[in-house]
Amino acid sequence: MPTKRLSVVVTRRLPAPVEARLSELFDTTLTDSDDVMSRDALAQAMQGADILVTSLTDTVDAPLLAGAGDRLKLIANYGAGVDHIDVATARQRGILVSNTPGVLTEDTADMTMALMLAAMRRMPEGMARMQAGDWAGWAPEALLGSRLRGKVLGILGMGRIGQAVARRARAFGMEVHYHNRRRLHDGLETPLEATYHDSLDRMLTLADVVSVNCPHTPSTFHLLGARRLKLLRPSAVVVNTSRGEVIDENALTRMLRAGELAGAGLDVYERGQGVNPRLRELPSVVLMPHMASATREARLEMGDRVLVNMQTFADGHRPPDLVVPSML
Ligand code: DGY
Repeated sequence: MPTKRLSVVVTRRLPAPVEARLSELFDTTLTDSDDVMSRDALAQAMQGADILVTSLTDTVDAPLLAGAGDRLKLIANYGAGVDHIDVATARQRGILVSNTPGVLTEDTADMTMALMLAAMRRMPEGMARMQAGDWAGWAPEALLGSRLRGKVLGILGMGRIGQAVARRARAFGMEVHYHNRRRLHDGLETPLEATYHDSLDRMLTLADVVSVNCPHTPSTFHLLGARRLKLLRPSAVVVNTSRGEVIDENALTRMLRAGELAGAGLDVYERGQGVNPRLRELPSVVLMPHMASATREARLEMGDRVLVNMQTFADGHRPPDLVVPSML
């Protein structure tokens, strides 16, 4: 099928150079608003398109997939996480799903460190004091935080992003521990000087900081639930730049309020924008609006990955970033 004839619907506004290239290569319908596409509009798009370009704000579930037109053959997601797409059902219906791994690794790891530093060094409290204009000057015991050097970092999920966090943490002098479905091979583990724990519980009892870097799947939902969070020391800090659903947000909030945990740095939330309001009241908690990968560079490179996946598919080959249900 000639590439030009492939009909593409893009559900969200993307950076201008990405949209321009999509329009050059395909018969592309763009959206001129930055709103999330409604379910009805999504259903309609899935009726007529050959390729749907989604992002994490589109829920592509089994009922929507059941109504998809026969033409729909690829969902090229603009983003790495695919927990908003029912990949198994898509596969059963002969619809491929691709994502954009790799290009947001370093930026997400940077944000993980920023959240860790901000929570441990009480930066929001310092900023609030400066912004309120009520800084009374230096004092030996004002706003004392915790040093990163020498602390035990427990990384939950040692994929690309977890490894990028580990590299940074080593540079900060932290001791790196990790839990992952599979142990890394020596060639990766040794340079990171990382200690593997097949027991997540064990790792949590040792950690000063926990960083969530695993994807959200049915098996990671509430992996850090109330029981496991209680294994952490009261001085521990929890950082999450992956997906909110991995942590029981209400349990985390209760423990932070009770002083059973020292702080948290969160970029993602269990109920999307519906952040537990009590989290916002806590000075020890740093909240970011899902912006760990929000760099101009990453957004353009994500667009490049989407285009490569689409073009490869259009040329009759397997998209390089194909997501298969067994990966999840
Ligand atoms: C992703 O790509 O899944 C990220 O969460 C977007 O920021």
